[in-house]
Amino acid sequence: MLAAIFERTGSAEEVLRVVSLPDPAPDPGEVRVRVRVSGVNPTDWKARASGSRLEADGGPGLIWPYQIPGQDGAGTIDAVGPGVDADRVGERVWVHLAAAGRPHGTAAGYVCVPADRALPLPDGVPFEQGAGIGIPFVTAHHCLHADRDIQGATVLVTGGAGAVGNAAVQLAKLAGARVIATVSSPRKAELASAAGADVVLDYGEPDFSSDLRDAAPDGIQHVVDVALTTNFPTYVGALQQQAVIASYAVEASGVATVAHMTAMECNLLVRFVLLYTLPDSVLRHAAESVNAALWAGQLTALPMQTFALDQIAQAHEAVEAGTVGRVLVEIP
Ligand SMILES: NC(=O)c1ccc[n+]([C@@H]2O[C@H](COP(=O)([O-])OP(=O)(O)OC[C@H]3O[C@@H](n4cnc5c(N)ncnc54)[C@H](OP(=O)(O)O)[C@@H]3O)[C@@H](O)[C@H]2O)c1
Repeated sequence: MLAAIFERTGSAEEVLRVVSLPDPAPDPGEVRVRVRVSGVNPTDWKARASGSRLEADGGPGLIWPYQIPGQDGAGTIDAVGPGVDADRVGERVWVHLAAAGRPHGTAAGYVCVPADRALPLPDGVPFEQGAGIGIPFVTAHHCLHADRDIQGATVLVTGGAGAVGNAAVQLAKLAGARVIATVSSPRKAELASAAGADVVLDYGEPDFSSDLRDAAPDGIQHVVDVALTTNFPTYVGALQQQAVIASYAVEASGVATVAHMTAMECNLLVRFVLLYTLPDSVLRHAAESVNAALWAGQLTALPMQTFALDQIAQAHEAVEAGTVGRVLVEIP
């Protein structure tokens, strides 16, 4: 098969190349997917650029001598390992977290994953949309549902045009919440509105904090936040007592700070989220819930930008540069 690999960390242009490798065979409990489209997420370029946190701490990190990038993707199951229902051969699937602690990601002709990391993709949903579901929707689902029932709650989603943020807007609406999304431009406002946000606010506007309080007169009960340290001061005045903040992204400093007494006065709960260290049962629940919404025809996709496999470096650079929408790699 053809696969993109990197044998050391570094810039996309320096370290990513496409090579021919033997086709992998599924181990017990695994399915092999003929990948059609690989989705690129920020985690893919971060792992390529600097390895995993575990590795930095002396842990196993990337599994050398080479790593195939790509956590998310979509394709068709063409083989199953022992213990997996043979009827799954031929099933169209979306794949998530393929390269989590494993050397083979989705930027390749074939990828083997545990059977529950490949969920059925409805016939009418193109592989391109399927490849964009994984990490963003699973993250968004966990951020929204790990702590409480959000039906009827007012939910604030910061960065409502980002991959995770846009998924959070959609899933919060499906759960019966009223959603306020923040963005930084009119184009992003359109994307957040299209996902179902009831109110969209530009967080760069000088009156943002007071506009937010006006938009949530009874207070915000739940926040899905992409930039906790930056954003906390701007929305804390609009939070209801005992609000929950789900924080899923690390800012440049690597340290999250909030005004401690203010947070205590609100009796806030801050949930930090990292998919890679969540138990399989939690990931499975989130993925199956997302899949139910997908099969009900309730999920929409952000605009997509598609690259060929031999343009994998440009695809990584596009995500690194903050491209609006999803970046995909077509697998020949
Ligand atoms: N913890 C986990 O398991 C997990 C899972 C998925 C993703 N992540 C991380 O989450 C981050 C976002 O991922 P993504 O795939 O959603 O990326 P993305 O598609 O690039 O979206 C990021 C969004 O955040 C917005 N943003 C940045 N600063 C903001 C601020 N202060 N307030 C409001 N919005 C802000 C950006 O828009 P503007 O710049 O225009 O505001 C952009 O729309 C990445 O760092 C990724 O590594 C973590």
